[in-house]
Amino acid sequence: MKITGKELRKKWLDFYKSKGHADIGAVSLIGDGTTGVMFNVAGMQPLMPYLLGKPHPAGKRLCNVQGCVRTVDIDSVGDASHFTFFEMMGNWSLGDYFKKEKTAWTFEILTDVFGLDKDKLCTTVFEGNASAPRDDETAELLVSLGIRREHVFYLPKEDNWWELEGTVGTPCGPDNEWFYPLDEGKANPVFPDDYIEIGNDVYMQYQKLEEGYAPLAHKNVDTGFGFDRMLLFLNGLHDAYKTDLFTAVIAEIERASGKKYDDGGEARRAMRIIADHTRTTVMLIGDSTGVLPSNTGAGYILRRIMRRAIRYCRQLEISSEVLLSVAKIYIEEVYGEAYPLLKEKEAFILEEIAKEAERFETTLATGMKEFEKCVTALARKNEFMAKSDPAYVPETVIGGKAAFRLYDTYGFPLELTEELAAEKGLTVDSAGFSEAFKEHQEKSRVLAKGEAKGGLESHSEMAVKYHTATHLLNAALKVVLSPECNQRGSNITDERMRFDFNFDRAMTPEEIKAVEDLVNEKIREDLPVVYREMSLEEARKEHFVGVFDSKYGEVVKTYSIGDFSKEMCGGPHVERTGVLGHFKIQKEQSSSAGVRRIKAILE
Ligand code: ALA
Repeated sequence: MKITGKELRKKWLDFYKSKGHADIGAVSLIGDGTTGVMFNVAGMQPLMPYLLGKPHPAGKRLCNVQGCVRTVDIDSVGDASHFTFFEMMGNWSLGDYFKKEKTAWTFEILTDVFGLDKDKLCTTVFEGNASAPRDDETAELLVSLGIRREHVFYLPKEDNWWELEGTVGTPCGPDNEWFYPLDEGKANPVFPDDYIEIGNDVYMQYQKLEEGYAPLAHKNVDTGFGFDRMLLFLNGLHDAYKTDLFTAVIAEIERASGKKYDDGGEARRAMRIIADHTRTTVMLIGDSTGVLPSNTGAGYILRRIMRRAIRYCRQLEISSEVLLSVAKIYIEEVYGEAYPLLKEKEAFILEEIAKEAERFETTLATGMKEFEKCVTALARKNEFMAKSDPAYVPETVIGGKAAFRLYDTYGFPLELTEELAAEKGLTVDSAGFSEAFKEHQEKSRVLAKGEAKGGLESHSEMAVKYHTATHLLNAALKVVLSPECNQRGSNITDERMRFDFNFDRAMTPEEIKAVEDLVNEKIREDLPVVYREMSLEEARKEHFVGVFDSKYGEVVKTYSIGDFSKEMCGGPHVERTGVLGHFKIQKEQSSSAGVRRIKAILE
């Protein structure tokens, strides 16, 4: 290795610190919601308010190395260059210095610090359009620094304008991109195979409007140089998984599988996917907002990534335990220093990975068989039809209902089924999947309609969540306080829940916390909520709690939440506890003699 990951990180930060920048450290990978972008996809994203003029507490010159998650290219992961997590080395001027200083410093760090040859450096600048002028100023500064004039290219907006796509109100502007030949090649950065784009300086002096752009009161600089890519390039490598960030990880997967990375082929692809996806998993679960696998939002993307990694373990014929040893390497050897929170949360991260692996592995094998059945059925049908009708066009689409069944019963994210289908040259009817999904939800609702009791006043999505939370709370009180505790009543609105239960004294703060923790643990475990009808006798035998005042032989409705809670109840409930969010007890007080009342919220 000419330069290690740790050295590169330090060199970047030291250089910009020497130019008066404060290292603000990396922040959460989760977007703060201001742009509507779920994950941070660029180092500037968390700095949005400051680029728009708000004073930053650390001053006007900032730098860091920021983690980013981009999942648009997830299907390309497995090749030599794609990642779902990467880091961006950044620095910013918030209305302070501008083009003169920035061009000089980028030139200096590339040539003096990283030892690149100024005669080989190529750069591109904005050629101008109706919104902003041609960037001759930057071009002239670059030439005056020593970049060859014939290595400065003017390119249109598609190439040399940077903005967060799909957003409005965000800062943006023309950029100056830096290229270097990978091997001796033609001096033309438009050919990406010969030249690598190593980073860019964005001159953020505009704000994106619904239509067009408005100048900002102050001019910013937003620099982003891909850390992983730079590391690869400075070491003269052509495979992003060959940097020292992955050495120990790949060795571990080789050890577990008995296969060699350098033999290439499908095994190498699987190793890369496992390496990439586990890194992203570690970073997301270890993030300050602590994303956990679930069926919605960021949690769903995490689940997809984790399940994809597990599937590739299967392809390599190894147990998903390798995800744990790989995660450990990332935390302890590679990223723990730069991301101290990972070390603090190590046990938690490993536990969550193990849990998700367990959840998925129990159904993966049967789900794969089920998938194969769909494929065989389709092939049989095609064969049969072709025999009787020579003009028959073979079907190549797996039905939406089948895909939904794989999702609902075997935990296959739709994208996993799509990927498996693609491997067989098939597609999935995703509209049909959505329909089956909706139909299923509708059914659960109809089933529950009119049968809700015990204070459930509305069926809004939030109220349904609170309703499931009352079951978790009921079960948690039995564990923490006494098996004798039982629900005496409840009242739910969209904003909170109230829950009455028998108990003869106030709860201690420790007990309140223990109940909260237990409920949250069960939420995190994303337990399935299962509806079943059975005879009253059966419900009694299986220890469902509820009011046993019905007649013998009568059929009752029950809900169980994993092994944790079993109640007779008419619903409705959420499908899995993961969607409940965070449970918090706001108050515990007396309700009447021998009855306590808890007020709690989901946040
Ligand atoms: N915001 C710029 C980028 O992400 C620096 O490339």
